[in-house]
Amino acid sequence: MEIVIATHKHIKYANIISETIDKSAEQRGTGIAKRTPDYIETKIINGNAIIALDGNDFAGFCYIEIFSNKNYVVHSGLIVHENYRKQGLAKKIKTKVFNHSKKRYPDAKIFGITTGLAVMKINYELGYKPVTFSELTDDPEFWKGCKTCTNYDVLQRTQKKMCLCTGMLYNPEHNENIKEHAYNSKTLSRLKRIKQVLLLKKSDKRNIK
Ligand SMILES: CC(C)(COP(=O)(O)OP(=O)(O)OC[C@H]1O[C@@H](n2cnc3c(N)ncnc32)[C@H](O)[C@@H]1OP(=O)(O)O)[C@@H](O)C(=O)NCCC(=O)NCCS
Repeated sequence: MEIVIATHKHIKYANIISETIDKSAEQRGTGIAKRTPDYIETKIINGNAIIALDGNDFAGFCYIEIFSNKNYVVHSGLIVHENYRKQGLAKKIKTKVFNHSKKRYPDAKIFGITTGLAVMKINYELGYKPVTFSELTDDPEFWKGCKTCTNYDVLQRTQKKMCLCTGMLYNPEHNENIKEHAYNSKTLSRLKRIKQVLLLKKSDKRNIK
């Protein structure tokens, strides 16, 4: 398996990456924003994407988004092709994109918001901490991405203070070893359940995974 910073020669994979992201969003029933082949191509050309290939076959992808004048960085569009899941590939891709971001944007805080336990686990291992949304960027461009999510009403109801997603932040200024803290994937999983109980209406709870 080859996991590299994507370059011009990988532009030919933009279609399959976009299709795989769409397909998985459909299966999960989340309203994740569409990543068009053109958008993915721009990320590749700008050196802001990581691709995993098994020979010539597409296996995984992730790219960097920049907000608040390069003060915040987000790793977005993480996708592992169905044939390669549960083998540690997402962890390798996220580690590569994390190291690439730190080199390219050394002063930026790196953050993400997610309901996915796999991503929470990986972020935790990379040194991210769970934080409230107030610690994340206030760049409207970032929050615009939530508009297509099925839970957007929750974010609106709470004046953007919280939602079903957990915010996680890596602050290069406070690069402590968070494994010494009480957070672990069990805690993160419980946090997710509590939020669902508190924030979702009865009818929504039945539909959420
Ligand atoms: C989420 C996704 C990227 C995970 O990819 P993957 O290569 O299977 O993940 P890994 O094998 O690296 O697993 C990382 C950790 O998460 C766990 N994990 C993987 N899939 C999981 C799942 N569906 N639910 C809970 N935990 C999961 C693994 O057991 C592993 O934990 P460990 O370190 O304790 O062993 C992949 O399933 C995917 O592409 N899904 C669709 C798109 C998506 O959800 N993207 C994330 C948007 S935030």
